[in-house]
Amino acid sequence: MQPELTLFSTIAGTGSALPERIVTNHELAERIDTSHEWIVERTGIHQRHLVSEGQNTSDLACAAALQAIAASGIDAVEIDLVVVATTTPDLVFPSVACLVQQKLGIVNRCPAFDLQAVCSGFIYALSTADNFIRAGQARCALVIGADVMSRITDWNDRSNCILWGDGAGAVVLRASDTPGVLATHLHADGRYRDLLHAGSAPDGGGCAVRMQGNAVFRFAVRTLDEIVDETLEKNGLQKDDITWLVPHQANIRIIEATAKKLGMSMDKVVVTVDRHANTSAASVPLALDTAVRDGRIKKGDTLLLEAFGGGFTWGSALIKWMV
Ligand code: COA
Repeated sequence: MQPELTLFSTIAGTGSALPERIVTNHELAERIDTSHEWIVERTGIHQRHLVSEGQNTSDLACAAALQAIAASGIDAVEIDLVVVATTTPDLVFPSVACLVQQKLGIVNRCPAFDLQAVCSGFIYALSTADNFIRAGQARCALVIGADVMSRITDWNDRSNCILWGDGAGAVVLRASDTPGVLATHLHADGRYRDLLHAGSAPDGGGCAVRMQGNAVFRFAVRTLDEIVDETLEKNGLQKDDITWLVPHQANIRIIEATAKKLGMSMDKVVVTVDRHANTSAASVPLALDTAVRDGRIKKGDTLLLEAFGGGFTWGSALIKWMV
């Protein structure tokens, strides 16, 4: 009998989706006490895409998934795992993953589930799908990060409403005999709920993000610094082995700090925060898809994906680009 090949996973195609409606900083400044200049200086954000009435996380997730499926050249029927990272599901249940499975007409009964790690969600989902494939439990996974953060934003809270956008990004992850996903590293520390959380307000109001921005900023810079070291060290890489940094798009100053840590010039960093703002679980795959589609990311490149989010959660994925 032929011995089983060691299984790895590789990204075969990417896709993304943004709502049509664009809201500029100037529009926000008409409603709350802020300014375009303040938002750009503190965050790098110029605009965000926000859903319209009736548009849901699963709609964006499906649109991104269809692009990823087309880009990878697979038939949707080959998908044997659907993982959606989201903090803003359409419903409490069924999961967005099950809604996507139904909307895409995947009737092969493959497992489908959501995973919640807020802004680190896509890295967690990619790691999970990679492990399914390495374990031989899946061969073709649809991995999506999708969020409609505008639904859990208090639009009167100027301290954080300026940060968020809506969107989705997706990848098709296939089994391969050479590794595309070289490694993933995940972490969480549940002691910091007071610094960043969303839940029902004590006054019985709706669910809204509450954040101590300054403290979150410092923690994010420190932990992303650590994850860069950990990822390089554990994989025997030097800083200049990384071709592209594809960071979570929370704040341009956090992104610049990570690039500095890597000794990387900003023209090797994929930046979409100016146009997309912070789309939570969608941010990394949206940035990835942007740089794949505009031709910056090329076969043989080594990518470092990283993210930090509520929980706190953080993580990285080291990718060899194979297509
Ligand atoms: N417009 C104008 N002024 C604002 C403002 C806004 N939207 N929001 C806050 N301010 C004011 C504050 O009231 C404060 O005024 P004061 O000095 O008179 O008290 C001043 O600006 C500075 O506030 P501070 O919170 O210290 O600003 P900052 O430089 O830390 O920037 C964030 C705020 C939110 C942009 C920044 O902390 C940040 O990006 N943090 C990380 C958040 C993040 O990425 N979270 C998601 C993680 S996945």
